[in-house]
Amino acid sequence: MEALTVILWLIILLIPTIYLFFQKKYSYWKDRGVPYVEPKIPYGSMEVSRNMRKTVDVFYKAKSNFPFVGAYILTTPVIVATDLDFIKDILIRDFNYFTDHGISHNDRDDPLSANLFALEGQKWRTLRTKLSPTFTSGRMKFMFPTVLEIADRFKDTLGELLKTQQTLEVKDLLARFTTDVIGTCAFGIECNSLKDPDAEFRKYGRKHIEQPVHGLFITRLMSIFPKFSKMLRLVRTHRDVTKFFMGIVRETVTYREKNNIRRNDFMDLLIQLKNHASIEGEAGENIDSKIIQKLTFEELAAQAFVFFLGGFETSSSTLTLTLYELALNQDIQDKCRAEINCVLEKYNGKLTYDAMNEMHYVEQTVLGMYSNMFISLFIKYLQVSK
Ligand code: HEM
Repeated sequence: MEALTVILWLIILLIPTIYLFFQKKYSYWKDRGVPYVEPKIPYGSMEVSRNMRKTVDVFYKAKSNFPFVGAYILTTPVIVATDLDFIKDILIRDFNYFTDHGISHNDRDDPLSANLFALEGQKWRTLRTKLSPTFTSGRMKFMFPTVLEIADRFKDTLGELLKTQQTLEVKDLLARFTTDVIGTCAFGIECNSLKDPDAEFRKYGRKHIEQPVHGLFITRLMSIFPKFSKMLRLVRTHRDVTKFFMGIVRETVTYREKNNIRRNDFMDLLIQLKNHASIEGEAGENIDSKIIQKLTFEELAAQAFVFFLGGFETSSSTLTLTLYELALNQDIQDKCRAEINCVLEKYNGKLTYDAMNEMHYVEQTVLGMYSNMFISLFIKYLQVSK
């Protein structure tokens, strides 16, 4: 009886103590007069939902003249940037200060997770500067004919499919297109996913995106408690995905090194960073190379992996949404078509890199979708209280 009374008293005392603890933590934004999304004990203001739109919507509803909305992840105060100029400052002018995406990585058990998107602090800064040359306009121009070649294959595949199918899963077809593009442009690898919907690159890429190792809740906890999740040896990448990808990258690197092949692509940059810790003739050479000496093979593979994922998933989603909106908005579709025809006429019917850059209305149409995607992707958890 005595013990029961003690336990009862403990519970009676514990509940208000926990409540007061959360109340104190959740007063951070209120005390500073910042508009915020009302948190719920214990998970804060971030609803755990696969539907990004649903997650983001509450913040846009709370949007005011402030450039950001206050929120909490568990008890940590964070901000969600809602003003475009403010977002631009974070991403461009001040990008050097915002190094972390709040995504955990575990290089011991999950080597592919230690990629640019998940790395933090100085390690991210150094690697990021070293990899920036990947996206110079010269390199983009150099890749353009390859993209066109694969776009032709896309057109052929679409033509074939339309002969037998009345309805099409456009997202999947576009993901096969972007998988082939990124495979060829970044790694010089023929992924073959347009020809074969079950090609290995597509199969494992799809698996990684569509069947995450853990549910959203665990995945989020892993990001909030990275050290603990590392201790538990939790991973984000399926074993077979890691095996496949590491194998392909190893084969490619070995082949290129053995045959002294230089293709001026992303893989080329990574191989240089593996062998020399810098890229020939690039500004990245002067960076503090104490932090990133040479890339290990695992680090190289992790960067290849994130370019592969970033390269096929985001672009195919943007294209899918663009096509969907174009189908719904005939007037916009007509304007795009008119602009394409007009520019192509000027370039004798040939789609070149320069011609594409003159298609401003088309660009804005895709960018409109891009920014929709972007906003939904862009919940940058800016840690406030460190
Ligand atoms: C429409 C297409 C795309 C969208 C909407 C998109 C969106 C994003 C967003 C929102 C970020 C986070 C930016 C930040 O917080 O600083 C990001 C980072 C990244 N993206 Fe993309 N992306 C796209 C295409 C690509 C492509 C084609 C590649 C690779 C070829 C790529 C590779 C990456 C990488 C490596 C990062 C991490 C950069 C870093 O932290 O330094 N993305 N992307």
